[in-house]
Amino acid sequence: MNNFIFNNPTKLIFGKDMLNHLKEEIPTYGNRVLLVYGGGSIKRNGLYQEVLDLLNEINAEIFELSGVEPNPRVTTARKGIEICKNEQIDFILAVGGGSTIDCVKAIAAGAKSEHDIWDIVTKKYQAKDALPFGTVLTLAATGSEMNAGSVITNWETKEKHGWGSAVTYPRFSILDPTYTYTIPRDQTVYGIVDMMSHALEHYFHHETNTPFQDRMVEGLLKTVIETSPKLLADLENYQHRATILYCGTMALNGMVNMGYQGDWATHNLEHAVSAVHDIPHGGGLAILFPNWMKHVLDENVARFKKFAERVFDIEQGALSDREVAIKGIDALSDFWKSIGAPSRLADYNINEETIAEMADKTVTAHASFGNFKKLTREDSVAIYQASLIE
Ligand code: NZQ
Ligand code: ZN
Repeated sequence: MNNFIFNNPTKLIFGKDMLNHLKEEIPTYGNRVLLVYGGGSIKRNGLYQEVLDLLNEINAEIFELSGVEPNPRVTTARKGIEICKNEQIDFILAVGGGSTIDCVKAIAAGAKSEHDIWDIVTKKYQAKDALPFGTVLTLAATGSEMNAGSVITNWETKEKHGWGSAVTYPRFSILDPTYTYTIPRDQTVYGIVDMMSHALEHYFHHETNTPFQDRMVEGLLKTVIETSPKLLADLENYQHRATILYCGTMALNGMVNMGYQGDWATHNLEHAVSAVHDIPHGGGLAILFPNWMKHVLDENVARFKKFAERVFDIEQGALSDREVAIKGIDALSDFWKSIGAPSRLADYNINEETIAEMADKTVTAHASFGNFKKLTREDSVAIYQASLIE
């Protein structure tokens, strides 16, 4: 196990009717509040009005930025930064999914910097300060509600980059499972794939002494696998929505991955696909992850065998270790297909034509990427090729 420091300062406020806590949390930071949200789902399900009512009860002066895109654009973050600077905003409230929260992280950091936010996202400069912000999460997926990461897209240059800073943790996040009832079935599936992918990115590493961490990650994966079909059959089931919401947060808040470094190559591969084709993050991951697994399997067959046995209960019987490992990868693929996730780039009409462009984008930051196996541009091409139709 490697040395580590764990410090996650986000206050997690979880459960039905917990939105009221906005009234206690926000006044600590000031009166001028920028409310940020996406394309309108919160207006359709009534959450917007509930938030406004609570803000009015504490006499907040409310400013608004709406229209944050899925795969949030740097241009939208710049609009928010301008509002913060012009209106002396004290606090930002993100109400939405990972995209809205990620955009707010960029706004919060940009508002306290003289540099353009794209230069911070691309790591030319570091974010040293940020306006305080909180979140009301409406979609179980990214974990952005309890981590410091943010992923921002520059549509002009077709780039999508992750960045983060110790100053970009939400001060609090309110997670009420009832606000996730209205997530359409396909978005629910993308969220499930994303949180499972975070667990998988953690799981594939070469540290040998991580027994408790392994059990936590395996437990999270098994729980999501058991709960997802039940939730998809009953999208307004409180308990199932609660389980998935909690798993999404736990998968990427640093709790299950202390003492080792995960892989993250598949996220890099997916961000390059989304940068060029603007597809849902979870949809891209469902296509790429099994193909990454097959590509790197021989780095550590024992690790994949453990995954197959512990997560999918594959029995060895007369099979070789490698065959058991492959059965685990196939079981993951089959599970994702069974819940309706896409399995081929062709499902998004992506073909050979853009493979070179996407592969280039996987190595713009570094010549190689991933930790379980260091991948190069050639590996990216091979994984994209394998993902086209299978
Ligand atoms: O925009 P609105 O109208 O709100 O609709 C959204 C959007 O169309 C809708 N939605 C959200 N909550 C809803 C709802 N519809 C009905 N009812 C609700 N309760 O869902 C659509 C997708 O929303 P989005 O926020 O884009 O989804 P998600 O949470 O999956 O976020 C995806 C983004 O997060 C990044 C991804 O790359 C992508 O840009 N990631 C961020 C991470 C992080 N910060 O730690 C890690 C992840 O790996 C990921 O890369
Ligand atoms: Zn993800």
